[in-house]
Amino acid sequence: MCGIFGYVGKQGNAAEIVFDGLKLLEYRGYDSWGIATKVKSQKSKVKNKLIVEKHVGKIADTDINSKFLTLNSNLSVGHTRWATHGGVTTTNAHPHLDCSSTIAAVHNGIVENFQELKEELTKKGHKFVSETDTEVIPHLVEENLKHEGFASSTRDSFNRLKGLNAIVVANAISKEIVSAKTGSPLVVGIGKNDEQFVASDASGIVGHTKKVIFLEDNQMVILGDRVKLIRLPDGKEIKPRFQTLDWKFEDTKKGKYKHFLLKEIYEQPHVIENIVFNYEQEAQKLAGLIKKAFGTFMLGCGTASHAALAGTYLFSRIAKKHINFSIGSEFNYLEDYLTKESLLIPISQSGETIDVVEPVEKAKKKGAKIAAIVNVLGSTLYRKADYKILLGAGVEKAVVGTKSFIAMISVLLLTAYALAKKEGTGKQILLYASDNLKKILQNKFINSIKRVAEDLKDKVHIYIIGRGLSYATALEATLKIKETSYIHAEGFAGGELKHGVIALIEKGTPCIVFAPNDETYDDIISNAEEVKARGGFIIGIGPRNNKVFERFLKTDDIGDATIIPQVVISQLLAYYLALEKGIKDPDKPRNLAKSVTVK
Ligand code: AGP
Repeated sequence: MCGIFGYVGKQGNAAEIVFDGLKLLEYRGYDSWGIATKVKSQKSKVKNKLIVEKHVGKIADTDINSKFLTLNSNLSVGHTRWATHGGVTTTNAHPHLDCSSTIAAVHNGIVENFQELKEELTKKGHKFVSETDTEVIPHLVEENLKHEGFASSTRDSFNRLKGLNAIVVANAISKEIVSAKTGSPLVVGIGKNDEQFVASDASGIVGHTKKVIFLEDNQMVILGDRVKLIRLPDGKEIKPRFQTLDWKFEDTKKGKYKHFLLKEIYEQPHVIENIVFNYEQEAQKLAGLIKKAFGTFMLGCGTASHAALAGTYLFSRIAKKHINFSIGSEFNYLEDYLTKESLLIPISQSGETIDVVEPVEKAKKKGAKIAAIVNVLGSTLYRKADYKILLGAGVEKAVVGTKSFIAMISVLLLTAYALAKKEGTGKQILLYASDNLKKILQNKFINSIKRVAEDLKDKVHIYIIGRGLSYATALEATLKIKETSYIHAEGFAGGELKHGVIALIEKGTPCIVFAPNDETYDDIISNAEEVKARGGFIIGIGPRNNKVFERFLKTDDIGDATIIPQVVISQLLAYYLALEKGIKDPDKPRNLAKSVTVK
């Protein structure tokens, strides 16, 4: 969580470069933001000082004092925040300064021992102004600077922090930026004329350069005269491993769309076709690993956990193969039976979700093999995995995951068919799904979805049911509606209805029913009848209409791939519900962030 951006170089508009970088990273946290910049001036008042500008709210909504952005400066660091410690105030916004305003720090993560460090530094006369854990960092560096240089001060300060953290520290006197990490992501970019950038992820840097270094855990990098990569434990310099980004800057733009969410929904036919035409080998390789393993476990969080759950049904139906599923944060408590014959398949868009990274690290210690399915090159899970499948869905900027989910389902479905040695069938039904999406994305169908959004916009509760594979569909549709429209939605297995939830059904209570043309059809229709009998308002989504439905959104009948049009209809319903409810920015739902790097 939180977006970090830093720049040092010859261009004199460092504050502006950082401001633009933060705008591209704002999906990582958007409750407040700030920038510190070193002005090129001989005036004693600002000579060796950092000038700071901080605001509560989203960058895009802030009327910033443009004079600050045009200050003549070639070193600057900035941050966009998702609060963990201390309320959402300008004082708690980052960057945080030391007592002399020559050291500024921005941070992503949690300093678990900040209380004791703060007490120790306060006893030494340091003045604290915020409630954050982060503010101990610039004061620790300031304290160490009394007896060592900036880089080793920052290294020693970082080595005293407990927890998973990424820090970026600027020094107005040495004109350097030092960054260090364990856990939270950091990437360095090297631009033309030796411009140097550091950011939480590459989407902030791709507009400047494609030449990057993804920092590993326990590494530190010094930016200034030259880029120096250091091993944190012993301070030894190491040779950087440069990589080239395969993204285009345009990918980080909305283009003709009002919101990234809508743009990414419309990209899904292409995402599926890319997997059909380019991922057969990846699917066969993963199928081979599953075949060899003694116990395979898929895990993920949020939307990725729904893809993993759907995977268990797809492998069972298509390949007669049992694969276990677990929510990432719960897998920590289920690892006792893992062995070196086990295979772990962590699924994650960002590749940074700490609730998935941690169980993977534990499993690796037990010798289990890791086959990661992620969407971000160079992400932590990508680097830690023995075998990696990059989803190729492109940059996903909307916090609400859409195309990443459809890419996850497409890869899992193709792998299940590879395991069943029927790759051709898998590819065929995915192409049918892509064709069906192109029909759904036509105005005529969009208008029918908008009508259902009008029906539901004033509802306080929405219930969503499905059976078998459609249970995973129901959970994903529920999450989309909740995180986009803020309407309370509850998804569950249709069979569970009579065991309690049906008590909540009263006249007009809406219930969305996923009814694909498979072995679940008759039973889920009976469940819909039970809800209707208590006054429920039934919305059916699937290939076959039924008189129990008051509203019906038709998909093609594509067998196991029917989950794809069903989920995309739910994504669009959630989006238009948000617009019906007057939610201005469905790309950045309140209280959320795109990649969850704290526990
Ligand atoms: C999905 O719309 C949400 N943004 C969230 O639930 C997300 O799926 C979850 O945080 C996992 O993220 P990941 O795929 O990057 O690991």
